[in-house]
Formats: sequence, C-alpha cells, structure tokens
Amino acid sequence: MKKVLALILALCMCLCLAACGEKPAENPSDSNPAPAATPAPAENKAPSDGKTDEPAPTDEQKTVGIAMPTQALERWNRDGAYLDEQFKAAGYETIVTYSDNKSEQQVNDIQNMLAQGVDLLVIAAIDGNALNTVMNDAGAADVPVIAYDRLIMNDNTSYYVSFDNYTVGVLQGTYVKEALDLDNAAGPFNIEFTGGDPADNNAPFFFNGAMDTLKPYIDSGKLIVVSGQTEFSAVGTEQWQTDVALDRAQNVLASYYADGTVLDAWVCSNDSTSLGVTQAIESDYAGDNSVIITGQDGDVANLRNIKDGKQSMTVYKAVANEAVVTLDLAKAILNGETVDEGLIAASGWDFDCAYDVESYETSAGNACPSFLLVPDVVTADNMEEKLVTPGYYVVGTDGYLEATNG
Ligand code: BGC
Repeated sequence: MKKVLALILALCMCLCLAACGEKPAENPSDSNPAPAATPAPAENKAPSDGKTDEPAPTDEQKTVGIAMPTQALERWNRDGAYLDEQFKAAGYETIVTYSDNKSEQQVNDIQNMLAQGVDLLVIAAIDGNALNTVMNDAGAADVPVIAYDRLIMNDNTSYYVSFDNYTVGVLQGTYVKEALDLDNAAGPFNIEFTGGDPADNNAPFFFNGAMDTLKPYIDSGKLIVVSGQTEFSAVGTEQWQTDVALDRAQNVLASYYADGTVLDAWVCSNDSTSLGVTQAIESDYAGDNSVIITGQDGDVANLRNIKDGKQSMTVYKAVANEAVVTLDLAKAILNGETVDEGLIAASGWDFDCAYDVESYETSAGNACPSFLLVPDVVTADNMEEKLVTPGYYVVGTDGYLEATNG
C-alpha cells in the first residue's frame, strides 16, 4: 500500500513538473555546489531523486532515503556519493538529499522521503536535536532510521554508525602531547582550542577527547591556554564554518598574542575549522615559529596544507568503510534479521569496527546500539601510505593528493 501511494505521489509530482515546464533540479535540496576542489567523481552525478527517469521500484526493490547535511563541506559529498553508489550496486533504489546545512530544510527533505515511501532512512543530522517530529513520523510508519556519523537525539533512532568520536579527539591531543614532548620538555607551552558545531552531537566528543588528554598538562602548568577559553561552550564553531573559526582565531590572536606571546599549538576539531585557524595564523600571528595545528577528515585543501607544513596532522576517517557498514546494517534490518555484534563477524569486513551499546544515548538512559569504526592519524610523513596506497586518494600532477572514489 505504501508503495502504491508512493507511486501515485511520484506520478503527480512528475505531471506537475511537466505541466509547469520545469526540469527537476540536479540537486533540489542544496543550493551550494560541490566545492570545485572536490574531484570525487560520484558527487558530480545527479543524485537519484527516486521519482523521475529511473524504473519504478518493483515489489522486491526497496528504497533507501539518504539525508546528508550539506555539499559545502567536503566530506559529505564523499559520504553521499559512497552511500548512493553502494546502495544502488546492492540493488536498492535511493533518494539522496543535501539540505544546505539548514535544519528545517532537512526536516522537509526527510518528510518528502517518507511521503515517497522509503523503506529505510540513513540520516546525517544537521542538528541532532531538531528532528523529533520527522523521527516520530518515521517511527509511526515503521521506517527504521540509521543515524549516520552524527547521533540523532530521538529514541526512534534504530542504530548509529560512526567513527569513535572521542578517540578522534584523543588522537589530536596525543599528537600535540608528543610533538611538544610534554612529558619531558620544560615548557611551558601556549595552546588554544577550536571546537565544532554545538548542534552536532559529535562536537563535544571530539573536544572532550582532546581536552581530557591535555588537561593534566594544563593543570600542571606545562600547557597554558592564554585566552583562558577552555570550555567547549567558549570555543565552538557554528556549522563548522571556516569563516567563523577564522574570525575567532583572529580575535584571540589580536587580544592575547599581539604582544609577541608565542603560540605553540592550536587544537582544531576538524579540517574546515583548521583552514580558518591556519589562515588567521598566516595573516595575524606575529611570531615566526611553526604552530602545531590539528584537524580531521583529510580534506584536499588540508592535505595540501599538511604537505606544505602549514597544518601538522589530520585524523582520517575512511568514509567509504562507514558506507560499507551502513549498507550491511541496512540489508540486515531490511531482511528482518536481529542485528547485534554478530553483524561484524558475519560481514567479514577487512577493517576494524566495534559494537557499542553504552556510549551513545538518544535520551537519558536509552543507549543506541552503535557500530564504531576506527580513526587514524595522517601526517606529511605517512600520507601516501595511509591515503594513496589504500586507494582513497591519488597523487596529482602537482604532487598534491586528489580524492578518488576508491
Ligand atoms: C563529522 C566530521 C566533520 C564535521 C563537519 C562531524 O559530524 O564527524 O567528520 O568534520 O561533522 O562536517
């Protein structure tokens, strides 16, 4: 019945578009084009909108709705492309949306998917607290939801697939600890922090992982946060925007470092914020020492900065593997199987993944069963081994890494 209604709705939408003389937009949900620097092939394909030229789903063919936050940040283009490709290759219909980082738009996009009769939703939430209505609708329609990468704060979330977010921060903190040799060097060293989007449930995990690692040295006085901004609430970056991170970094530099105070390290939770901080240091930092800067994602622009010595490291998360876990999990759910840690052995993945039923709560006391992959540190020294050898990137003619779809 759901499929019949969906087909009628799809037909009406086609007729309406034809009557209005409009062609469906290549990506109806996102006004931001993919960044030119993102050369992954699949994101340039029109995402399937599940309602135009493709054959109508048969009774056996299930449809999966994939809701990504935005095309403005590089990684989500990769995620959307991998998920779309892998679900299609496994014989599913897909509907892919990018919601321009606007939470209301994401709600509408998911509502449209439900109206089109999707059998399962994969959602990377823009704001994990803002999807209650549509999540309750999904629950009422018995549509399972996989929270992808970012947890959704609603108990209708069936499963969570992500990387170990706390470990991402620990890796960043540990990098700084080792680079400054905090256990042996006399110090003291000066450090600042830039966190992620407060609406993203991952952001405090990243921040806490780094802060917990470095706090003993802050407490002992070997590390000094000159700005005094040591709380996540003080260092967050709305929507992970480079410009927002840049502005705050410029303010911090002007207020606390303009007198020649040396800055030794700046922990940035991800690559988009790292770009802003790196730019501020280049333009507004008076010192001539090389500042240790962390990141996360392995965005192409940041890999260039790492090669050029402007950023020290990034935490790489193989999102192709995150898509593989999501696909195998979705298959099991759609086949009506009971899903637990047995999925890991049954799937035979050639990468590590842990099953966790404690760490991520969608409401107080209600933990969401989670599949957590393992993040990895990438530096100038191991970039080719970690990223080129496994086929995630290729070396371009200019010697810098370029994304592939491998
Ligand atoms: C993801 C990061 C990403 C950030 C901004 C987080 O939820 O886990 O990989 O850098 O969002 O897009």
